[in-house]
Amino acid sequence: MNAPAPPAETLRAALAGLLDGLPPRQAAQAVERLIASYRGATPTDAPILRDRADVAAYAAYRMPATFEAVRSALEAFAQAVPGWAPGSHTDVGGGTGAAAWAVSATWGGERPVTVLDWAEPALALGREIAAADPALRDVRWQRSRIGAALTLESTDLVTVSYVLNELTVPDRTALVDAAAAAAQAVVIVEPGTPDGYARVIEARDRLVGAGFHVAAPCPHSAACPIAPGTDWCHFSARVSRSSLHRQVKGGSLAYEDEKFSYVAAARFPVAPAPSRVVRRPQIRKGQVLLDLCETEPSLHRTTVTKRHGDLYKAARDADWGDAWPPAP
Ligand SMILES: C[S@@+](CC[C@H](N)C(=O)[O-])C[C@H]1O[C@@H](n2cnc3c(N)ncnc32)[C@H](O)[C@@H]1O
Repeated sequence: MNAPAPPAETLRAALAGLLDGLPPRQAAQAVERLIASYRGATPTDAPILRDRADVAAYAAYRMPATFEAVRSALEAFAQAVPGWAPGSHTDVGGGTGAAAWAVSATWGGERPVTVLDWAEPALALGREIAAADPALRDVRWQRSRIGAALTLESTDLVTVSYVLNELTVPDRTALVDAAAAAAQAVVIVEPGTPDGYARVIEARDRLVGAGFHVAAPCPHSAACPIAPGTDWCHFSARVSRSSLHRQVKGGSLAYEDEKFSYVAAARFPVAPAPSRVVRRPQIRKGQVLLDLCETEPSLHRTTVTKRHGDLYKAARDADWGDAWPPAP
């Protein structure tokens, strides 16, 4: 018997199937309409994802990227909490379920999963896509509005991906506080822009204030060493481009890089990376330049040369976002 396909491949196939039968021009138009809505004023009073065409366009166009960004954040988190796996998961503002797929790709196995969102068409399509993965068959897709009245049932892991951006400041605060009250671990992912980073830092401060320990990306739970407004901490996840992407964006590249900012924190003790590579490493002749965020909160450039032997080999393989030095 063949081994089951990993979740990333199952998801890709399920998303490709979504556009079957839809004329490519119509799919591209739905994506363009959606991009225009997102460019408009968010937060909005009503869901942007109004019907199946909107949601199918969102899922086919954005879900591969949000999935890869969340998976990348969860992998860094998993490295900082070896031996821990969530026994239950709630994804708030989960839309079509990208984070449920990413949790399943990171920890495998089955667990009770609840996806909350105010857009019914997103939940319905999420359920349809999730039918492709037996581990996600029993996910509860529940309508819920994020706001002052939000309370979450107790759960091991809460994920909030690409949602804070759509909320008012009081609703963002209510959401992070509700997540902190309900969960053992919270992972928040936002676009890798200066504003996305600022929202992540705001959430990180609230989580630390609520007694959480930062597990990733930061090597510490002290204040971020980036002086506000001078830079932003973000990472990059590689995403295969579908034919829909090529149609909407043009060009023929087989992939694109999704930039994201994130924080992963837990109530229980964590073992964060000794330092983290916070920019793409620069490989020069005989040396690698690594920009690191370090345990004593500071940003520091280190040069690893051939003279460092195995460490040099590791530096040549190091990627933006990796822990440094790599675990033995
Ligand atoms: C950009 S999508 C992200 C979806 C998913 N988390 C992902 O990463 O692909 C933002 C989601 O937040 C939901 N959302 C926005 N404001 C909300 C609110 N006030 N209450 C509940 N859901 C909300 C939207 O319906 C949408 O599904």
